[in-house]
Amino acid sequence: MQRICMVGTGYVGLVTGTCLADFGNQVICVDLDEEKVALLRGGRLPFYEFSLQELVERNMRQGRLSFTTDIAGAIRRSRVIFSAVGTPSDRAGRADLRQVFEVARTVGENLNDYKVVVQKSTVPVGTGAKVKALIEKHRRKKTPFDVASNPEFLREGSAVEDFMRPNRVVIGTWTQKAEDILSEIYRPLYLNEAPLVKTSVETAELIKYASNAFLAAKISYINEMALLCEKVGADVKVVARAMGLDHRIGPKFLHAGAGYGGSCFPKDTLALMSFAREAGIPATIVEAAIRANRHQRQEMIRRAEAMLKEPRGKVVGVLGLSFKPQTDDVREAFPLLLIPALQRRGARVRAFDPIAMPSAARKLRQVEFCKDAYEVAHGADLLVIATEWNEFRMLDMRKIHGLMRTPNLLDCRNIYDPDEMEKLTFTYAGVGRGVHLLRAAQRRPRKPAATRAEG
Ligand code: UDX
Repeated sequence: MQRICMVGTGYVGLVTGTCLADFGNQVICVDLDEEKVALLRGGRLPFYEFSLQELVERNMRQGRLSFTTDIAGAIRRSRVIFSAVGTPSDRAGRADLRQVFEVARTVGENLNDYKVVVQKSTVPVGTGAKVKALIEKHRRKKTPFDVASNPEFLREGSAVEDFMRPNRVVIGTWTQKAEDILSEIYRPLYLNEAPLVKTSVETAELIKYASNAFLAAKISYINEMALLCEKVGADVKVVARAMGLDHRIGPKFLHAGAGYGGSCFPKDTLALMSFAREAGIPATIVEAAIRANRHQRQEMIRRAEAMLKEPRGKVVGVLGLSFKPQTDDVREAFPLLLIPALQRRGARVRAFDPIAMPSAARKLRQVEFCKDAYEVAHGADLLVIATEWNEFRMLDMRKIHGLMRTPNLLDCRNIYDPDEMEKLTFTYAGVGRGVHLLRAAQRRPRKPAATRAEG
């Protein structure tokens, strides 16, 4: 059993702290936000995350998990300090490390005994060394300590599952002592056969960026293939499936759509490109993935506008506001780019999301929030499926068609079959469904060749 202080109660901090408490450790979660700490002390979560609520309540009840704003006291009472504070992008796309360094200073000032200071946040390579120097600068005496890197790979919406059954646990340290302490903390996962990757701090820091940027590039790659499919009459879903059957490629993260969003891929790809450039290495592939993603999102907006022909005065229904299903997080969510763009063109927007409407309402203006997909479709000239929530996968599309003023359907997540939608006489557009486009073009009556008289 370890005495652990978790600084930061966002997705990573709260999930990691709670799960480490569930392993039997004594965990104090710290946040500077008094409102958030009061909410958590009342057993309520500041965000939605599947199965986390019950885990927090149980561990609080059993006295292994507590919340405080007193960061100094929590550090002094703990042997392992995890730092899971935000590392947002600054204007230049670099990771803003002010919160990370603030925690390091506070640890230095409260180094009352040996501690391991573990970086859980995604930080550029070399941050561990800077944290170490800061702690040495601010510690009162020569009290020993170690710094470690332990990046997190959880996905929002499946964070608890991802923590409890990780594909791997990465531990970056410079000393055997720190490595042993962290290996002991993660032993319950290790016993679940989760491979433990033990390496240096710098290597662990880069593993996180290299992994996230690769996933983002994989998404941008299939999105570019989707646009090519539309031009050559191929079907990206079949291309992706056949690619994914190659064990060297794998089927995951090959779903063409409206591009990636969220609080990680956009930030981490920019940060990697930035510190690679600073190191004198042009991160051209990551840069291309960023550009391709921006293009994909703009292309989906252009497609929506084209389906409306003249957006002014038209009604657009948007299904899904979160950046992905199973979360209420709307950061960098495609719908939050699409809706203002259509409103600027004079369209009126109605929307529904199973849980992200409160989060979205804080970022959007003049959107009519509805109680379900059918209310969104009522009187709409275009229906956009923007986030692939399960409840949008089995809608009564005949009923939807009847409710709409003009049956235009833009399926940004390829949930529906183009041929079935055509049978219902929707004007359907997906992403990368080139076979459908080719057939639709072949069905369109050919324009009569201009006769000589017509000139
Ligand atoms: C990501 C990484 O997956 C996770 O390992 C890391 O710890 C944090 O960042 P997250 O951002 O929560 O997790 O969500 P993820 O499921 O990766 O999706 C990110 C974005 O990619 C979403 O907008 C999603 O819609 C999009 N996506 C994902 C696709 O467009 N196509 C895909 O095939 C998969």
